[in-house]
Amino acid sequence: MALKLEPGTRLVVATHNPGKARELAEILEGRFTLVAAGELGLPEPDETETTFVGNALLKARAAAEASGLIALADDSGLSVTALDGAPGIYSARWAGPDKDFALAMRKVGERLEAAGAEDLSAWFTSALAVAWPGGPAVVVEGRIDGTLTFPPRGDRGFGYDPIFIPEGLDQTFGEMEPLAKDAMSHRARAFAKLKAALL
Ligand code: IMP
Repeated sequence: MALKLEPGTRLVVATHNPGKARELAEILEGRFTLVAAGELGLPEPDETETTFVGNALLKARAAAEASGLIALADDSGLSVTALDGAPGIYSARWAGPDKDFALAMRKVGERLEAAGAEDLSAWFTSALAVAWPGGPAVVVEGRIDGTLTFPPRGDRGFGYDPIFIPEGLDQTFGEMEPLAKDAMSHRARAFAKLKAALL
């Protein structure tokens, strides 16, 4: 069976993060009817895998099984070269139960300082998985490289956006026009691959 996503398909988006849900909706350009996992009251599975790809698949499969709909899930995060890729898959968890990203960004800065790191390079990764209920799944990964800056700048975007300057630019993701971020982000790059595979 060729795996294809027809325009207008109802897709459950397996994220409980409003920032990511909004970006995914923008990237998908009204191509599908999106239903949020939260709207269906789907539980959030524990992210027990050790990679972005593994966690994206786990979330998409859980949502597809629970809803009976084709499910799209993203697992993403910030990886810092001088911190051996941390926080990586733990990016959300560094913000604690209150999802306090000012705290998480401070933690990144403090660890870099403690390590005496001069290399401020970092990258965002997004793994996107689509799973069919009771069936197959497809997963792809996109990445954008950049440099960290402290203190954080800009109040657009979400998560670690205010400390991340994408390669070749001088504004942080937190200062950029949301549409400009959407055009180059790790999520957009992953989606371009998904599009090539499924549309
Ligand atoms: P997940 O929901 O487990 O995939 O958590 C990913 C976390 O990585 C998010 O809560 C953000 O903190 C961070 N993250 C992922 N993508 C972005 C982004 O585009 N900008 C800023 N932070 C991001």
